[in-house]
This record gives sequence, structure tokens and C-alpha cells, in this order.
Amino acid sequence: MVIKNPEDLFVRLLSEANSAEKQITRALPKLARAADDPKLADAFKTHLEETRGQIDRLEQVADALPDIRIKRLKCYAMESLIEEAQELIEAAEKGPVLDAGLIGAAQKVEHFEIAAYGTLAALAGQLGYEEAKNLLAETLQEEKATDDKLTELAKQNVNQKAG
Ligand SMILES: [Fe+2]
Ligand SMILES: [Fe+2]
Repeated sequence: MVIKNPEDLFVRLLSEANSAEKQITRALPKLARAADDPKLADAFKTHLEETRGQIDRLEQVADALPDIRIKRLKCYAMESLIEEAQELIEAAEKGPVLDAGLIGAAQKVEHFEIAAYGTLAALAGQLGYEEAKNLLAETLQEEKATDDKLTELAKQNVNQKAG
């Protein structure tokens, strides 16, 4: 895929985000099963539902723009982040220590998504894609809220161990 202009770049990044989200929907159930803290498992399940909605939203972005279609490509960065999480699950026993690791792995994913959707929303704004920009900003907010929730769960996890 040749990238010659900002529109091409937008399609490229949108397609990468689509691949990343699809990989995340396959990874989140594994994270939920590996979590010891039921609140953490619930957070992963809730974000799975949100992530499905985010994939639909990416379709809505493409549908709102007549010349844009999501391409099939692989987001290698997400593949690696998920592989690392998988290795963590295999290397540690279920419990608060693995939970801390799972939270860290999930926050790496969220930070990646925050960067990706931040760029996409800004690019959509520059290109005058108003509806697309609003949809992408909505997902960006969900990723930020998830990151905050994980920070909160990490604090509770540490406090439990201390107490
Ligand atoms: Fe997402
Ligand atoms: Fe996310």
C-alpha cells in the first residue's frame, strides 16, 4: 500500500487500529481467565464488550467517508504486546503478582491505543472528517477511562498485599 498523502496515511492507521482491536478481542478473554482478582477479571470482560463496540465504530468511520475502506493488514506492535502478556501468563502462577503483571500488560495496550486514536482523531480533524473525528474521540475516551480504571485496580492490588 503506497502512502502519498494524509488521506492514505489515515486509511493506513485506521486499518492498523482495526487489526489491533481484533487482536485485543481475542486476548481479553485470556487475560480475564488468568486474573485472580474478580474485579480485574470483570474489568477485562467489560473492556471486551467496549472493544467490540470500538470495532463497530471503526466501520462507522469508514462508512462515513465515501472513499475510505479499511484494509486487511496486521498490527505487529499489538501482536508483540499480546505475545508478551501471553508469556507472562505462562511464567507466573495465578495470584496478586500475576495480576500486577496483567494490569501492566493491559496498560501498555491502552497506552498504545491512546496514542493510535489520538493520532487518528487529530488527522481526521485536519482532513475535515468531522463525524469520523467524533467517533474516534469517543473511542479515545474509552481507552483513557480503561487506563484509569486499571491504575485504580493496581493501587488496590498493592494495598491488599500490604494489608
Ligand atoms: Fe480499543
Ligand atoms: Fe482498549
